[in-house]
Amino acid sequence: MKIDILTLFPDMFLGFKTQSIVKRAIEKEKVEINIIDIRNFTPYKNNQVDDYQFGGGGGMIMMCEPVFNAVENIRTPDSHVILLTPRGKTYNEKKAYELKNKKHLIIICGHYEGFDERIYTLADELISIGDFILTGGELPAMMISDSVIRLIDGVITSTSLEYESFNDNLLDYPVYTKPREFRGMSVPDVLVSGDHKKIKEYRESERLRITKEYRNDLL
Ligand SMILES: C[S@@+](CC[C@H](N)C(=O)[O-])C[C@H]1O[C@@H](n2cnc3c(N)ncnc32)[C@H](O)[C@@H]1O
Repeated sequence: MKIDILTLFPDMFLGFKTQSIVKRAIEKEKVEINIIDIRNFTPYKNNQVDDYQFGGGGGMIMMCEPVFNAVENIRTPDSHVILLTPRGKTYNEKKAYELKNKKHLIIICGHYEGFDERIYTLADELISIGDFILTGGELPAMMISDSVIRLIDGVITSTSLEYESFNDNLLDYPVYTKPREFRGMSVPDVLVSGDHKKIKEYRESERLRITKEYRNDLL
């Protein structure tokens, strides 16, 4: 899979590409991530990419030409263009599984007061990451890319993905590691019993209990 992220602030992605599972996925050639500076595509002097809005009002608006030029420079028939905006449908794990099957994602990050309205015509899909406002689309782009990359075959072990929260309508079961006793809190006996049938039953019932307690709305 290839992910091209269009941004005015490429340096925000430095740590994202060089750490942890995303770094390993790049090294294993499971994903190619290109951070593309929208400023490189502006036809205006002094790398201008934003301007005041017609009709008055605060804040700068991202201009059409740099974003259109950038998208048109990289888009192919395999591309799926995502525009990050509070207007979009709220992102979730189901969408992550859907996006993992795309060959090429182009993710456009807004900044300042947002996009000139005509930029929306470039998008195959509008995505929001929740009902709150961020300064830019860079964090949403990282969140979406991260959640998609970890689902690509061979990036993490398939058993890690098997029982994760949101795969169905349940949250994940509780997990423990050493030590078995910590400040009066013990690892449940069943987990060290070696009885795999019982462990499976315990985990299933814990998933239900935890979902009821924390996210009853999922049930
Ligand atoms: C300050 S926001 C613009 C908000 C816009 N004026 C509004 O009220 O809808 C700048 C950019 O950050 C990104 N952004 C902010 N909040 C977001 C969210 N919840 N989901 C996705 N992108 C978001 C978008 O790309 C947006 O164009």
